[in-house]
Amino acid sequence: MESYSVCVDLLIVLALHICIVPVPGQLWSEWWTYQGISGPKFWGYHNPEWILCRKGKLQSPIDIDPHNLIYDQNLRQLEIGQDKIDGKLINTGHDLTLTVDDLDFTFTGGPLSYDYIVYEIKIHLGNSDRVGSEHTVGGNAFPMEIQIVGYNGELYTNASQALLSPHGLAAISVMAMVTESGNEHFGKLVDMSKSIEHRGMQKDIQGFSVSQMLPTSDYFITYEGSLTQPGCHETVTWIILNKPIHVSKDQLNLLRELTFTGGKGDGLMENNFRPPLPLNRRLVRTNIQSNSQDEECHARKVTFYQVSYRSLEFDLHGGVLEVTQ
Ligand SMILES: *[C@@H]1O[C@H](CO)[C@@H](O)[C@H](O)[C@H]1NC(C)=O
Repeated sequence: MESYSVCVDLLIVLALHICIVPVPGQLWSEWWTYQGISGPKFWGYHNPEWILCRKGKLQSPIDIDPHNLIYDQNLRQLEIGQDKIDGKLINTGHDLTLTVDDLDFTFTGGPLSYDYIVYEIKIHLGNSDRVGSEHTVGGNAFPMEIQIVGYNGELYTNASQALLSPHGLAAISVMAMVTESGNEHFGKLVDMSKSIEHRGMQKDIQGFSVSQMLPTSDYFITYEGSLTQPGCHETVTWIILNKPIHVSKDQLNLLRELTFTGGKGDGLMENNFRPPLPLNRRLVRTNIQSNSQDEECHARKVTFYQVSYRSLEFDLHGGVLEVTQ
């Protein structure tokens, strides 16, 4: 009996040592990961300030069910600023983050009642083209998701204050689709990422145009959710564009060479996505309406999708949102 319990204790101690001792020099608040005992399922247990990661019921990401979108005619046109940004491209060890230095690049409209100042852009990606995005559509993931996060600049003075406050944050999310040529503007970030291979490395970036990188689309899906990283604060209005950004295989493969940690041969920064969380009766609204005069089309309402696994694309066909091959 004695030796049995000793053995069990040892196993637990070993597991803790192997899996969750932070890398030297890393803050305790930074050692969460996307794998195993420090991964998404356990974020809420590690730090009392991250309790929402475990107990929150308005969490992000979600799976977007194409049959469960609500057309809302009160949604306005999304207005995304044209300003070029200066900032830093950082390998945070969790993701590739572009932090924005100035307060010029803003967005509003859509479901939003305030102006949001973009302070960071985050990139989540997978190790294959079938995983990577945080939000999924009809259970299907995209190879990458770019999240442009802003804080409410009308009510709050900075992002750390806003993320704890009502209507504090908003995020515009764009899924990626693999194409031959990729996106030239996104390519600039990919090129820069080559020199920030390891955690903590950063590179200055000047005059980057986010709006040029984005697909042109007036259509989106929106819901109220949370940050997808600790502490999972439920103060984020999500706006998911209905068109993807095009990235090439080469661009994705270069990003997949980034590492989570500090050395050669270390874990690659891939599959850094939080899996979808329950919707829990939240509304998922869209401004996509069938504008066809065709009676039959009207009857089909606005939420007809066809989802195919290989290449997902949000597109408009006769005013009807579809995901096509
Ligand atoms: C953010 O704003 C609050 C309130 O004005 C202030 O107390 C806090 O120090 C600011 N934080 C940062 C990181 O600037």
